[in-house]
Amino acid sequence: MRLRAFLTAVCILVLSGALAGPVVGPKASWAAPAQQAEIWPKLDVRGLARAAGIPTVQVTIAEDPVYGGEKRYRGIPLRDMLAAIPEIEELARRGALIVFHAADGYIATMDLERALTAGGVLAVSDLGALPGHTWMPIEQGGQKVSPAPLYLVWPEAKSGDPRFVWPYQIQTIEVKPFAAQYGAAVPEIKEAAGDGTAEVAGGEAVRRGFEHMRVRCLTCHAVNLVGGDLGPELNVPMNPTEYWKPEMLPRYIRDAPSFHARSKMPSFRDTLSDGDIADILAYLRFMVGQKICGAETPCE
Ligand code: HEC
Repeated sequence: MRLRAFLTAVCILVLSGALAGPVVGPKASWAAPAQQAEIWPKLDVRGLARAAGIPTVQVTIAEDPVYGGEKRYRGIPLRDMLAAIPEIEELARRGALIVFHAADGYIATMDLERALTAGGVLAVSDLGALPGHTWMPIEQGGQKVSPAPLYLVWPEAKSGDPRFVWPYQIQTIEVKPFAAQYGAAVPEIKEAAGDGTAEVAGGEAVRRGFEHMRVRCLTCHAVNLVGGDLGPELNVPMNPTEYWKPEMLPRYIRDAPSFHARSKMPSFRDTLSDGDIADILAYLRFMVGQKICGAETPCE
């Protein structure tokens, strides 16, 4: 099997790195049983970079979205690191996603194809840090955290461009097809009706809502256990649309810090319109009817 051969190649690269730990494993996909048998690559980036002997580069970021202002870093070009994986180009052509897992449960994804071509750098140190330090701390939910070991930066991308992700504290990188990554969080909008192709009412809003959720929210939250775990699960066993006052929920999603001091959830006042939030709520309400129940999440 091609993938298994690919995985073995990755395994060897990683395990020959000096500090590489157990880094490759099957990702049991709760949601998509059809995908369960398929094993996708999961990399310890530091081990891989060391194993492949990739030289570091210095980069300048004109407007860093995490720190604000101009920053300079030393780092490993993402493309060079991924090029160490023999089948990476083919996986990109097949539309795979690249998935970055941060230490705190944050998950960022983007198109593998874009990640390979857009000049991203996995920063290993901040060249503006105080003497004797590798990084300047980042302010996050009222706490100071270090972005170590790796922070993904894009010297050529505009800050705020949603096609690029800037995760920090990156620990592992996975390459996966869309369905395997998002599985049970994807709304099944088609309704069996006659020819089986009728749309449920409001299907478009649900679809748009999922896309907003995918880009802005599943980084921290899961739906049907699919997504990050920095914030709470949003569908099983209970969906917030079932227990929040309807008039409060959109206000909360727009601006969580106005409800909770030191909230780890950012304000979306400047990035989501009322219409976007209405779409997100349409998606969340729709998912009440698509709960995945199991031992970990009894629905009754
Ligand atoms: C950086 C991580 C992060 C992002 C991004 C994020 N959230 Fe949150 N969210 C949290 C955390 C953490 C909490 C728990 C409360 C807190 O810390 O303020 C939370 C709480 C919530 C709650 C309340 C859950 C409950 O049961 O009371 C809802 C609803 C919610 N988030 C929806 C969203 C939506 C919708 C988005 C995207 C537009 C989003 N969140 C984006 C981290 C995040």
